[in-house]
Amino acid sequence: MATRDTWVSNLGFVLAAVGSAAGLGNIWRFPWLTAGNGGSAFLAVYLAIVVSVGVPGLLAEFVLGRRGRQTPMGALRSLTGSRWGSVLGAFNVLTTLLILSFYSVVGGWILRYTLVSPTGAYFAQPQQYFGAIGYGFEAVGFHLLFLGIVAGIVFFGVNRGIERVSKVMLPAVVVLLVGLAAWTATQPGTAAGYAFYLGFDGEYLFANFASVLGPAAGQALFTLSVGAGTMLTYASYIDEDSSLPRDTIVIAVSNTFIGVLAGLVVIPLLFSQGVDPGQGGPGALFVGLAAAFESLPGGRVVATAFFAAVLMAAVTSAISLLETPVATLVDAVGMPRRRATLLISGVLALTGTGLSLSAPIFQFVSGTVADLMLSVGLFAFLVIVGWMLREDAIAEFRAGAGRMGVLAPSWLFTVSWLLPVVVLFSLSSTLGSLVGVSLDLGSRVAVAVVLTFVCRAVVAVAVDG
Ligand code: PHE
Repeated sequence: MATRDTWVSNLGFVLAAVGSAAGLGNIWRFPWLTAGNGGSAFLAVYLAIVVSVGVPGLLAEFVLGRRGRQTPMGALRSLTGSRWGSVLGAFNVLTTLLILSFYSVVGGWILRYTLVSPTGAYFAQPQQYFGAIGYGFEAVGFHLLFLGIVAGIVFFGVNRGIERVSKVMLPAVVVLLVGLAAWTATQPGTAAGYAFYLGFDGEYLFANFASVLGPAAGQALFTLSVGAGTMLTYASYIDEDSSLPRDTIVIAVSNTFIGVLAGLVVIPLLFSQGVDPGQGGPGALFVGLAAAFESLPGGRVVATAFFAAVLMAAVTSAISLLETPVATLVDAVGMPRRRATLLISGVLALTGTGLSLSAPIFQFVSGTVADLMLSVGLFAFLVIVGWMLREDAIAEFRAGAGRMGVLAPSWLFTVSWLLPVVVLFSLSSTLGSLVGVSLDLGSRVAVAVVLTFVCRAVVAVAVDG
């Protein structure tokens, strides 16, 4: 068997992983969710969930990847010693395909806005412009263009394609966003936006805690790329001497920094135009910001810089989503990488085209379905790490971790008990609201705890029996 691709350096891995994490989730999804869920209140809950659930969950995914040394199907199969492992891995692959299908459509919008910003094409009538290009045949064209760029990078492999591109694009995103945040701070009318975003509104939080929790948890997983097997795949290319806990913390902190930074640009600008960013949903960014760019000095330059930053962030996330199914074909059936890239991109060209043509399906897939699939994926990782591997997982955590190795037992405890309850809580809340059942907070927690024990028992019987 040919040797597997690897990262050239640990820094390369970290940058690629931050590249995967920081994407449309931070810039496009985060501001509109934040604004729709009480601003600062959402921010506080979201940050708490990133720390308590996202970080240990991401670490679990890394442990599986480095221990399994393969893409999700092969890794989970060999680690669990069961065909169920392959099924779960296949579910991961499906998740990446599904997310990338809508991701590429949004990537196409962003690509278009980057290209036309210098001419200010959408400035005069932002609403009509987005309405005209959002869905339909032109959207298909830009989706295909975006997908082509992403496929072109994955085509060249882990170190010559993904690592190289991430090393350039990620720093560029940060520089552009810092510049944009500074520019925003000098603009008139932004004070209300900062107050809404950064001021702490305890009363709102107290009154709406239960309804903020679900979206905040979903967003925390989405933004860290947890639960889709992409981080598992990336971790399968690193060596034993890198410290997984340290890398995880660096990745989570950098991603959060980029998310908060993007919020510092988007939210004040929207407020300066009197736009309520919570109202617009997926189009808010395009319509609301366009109005801001139009009315402010230097709008065209700033708009171009902004969409270029979003575009690069989206590309580095999309490559991780494409790498997972491609590398799975390489690992599982020995297909050459280039052929696998073409094949999978062909499938995505079709699925993305479907979504470009139907707004309602697009919204359902990019919101609810994506959140649900990531939660199920993460739950499977937690079960395997926390309930099956246990000592092996601790050993993998400790390899290369140095003094941080002392944290391994408390991490394992979090992964095996706390996280399953939280994930089942958010899963059952989302499913409940889909079928129209709404329980109060206490009952939902009780349901999650009971479900966790039931699952634990089922797994115990299955493993021992
Ligand atoms: N984290 C990416 C973003 O925020 C999206 C993503 C989710 C990427 C899951 C890979 C896996 O844009």
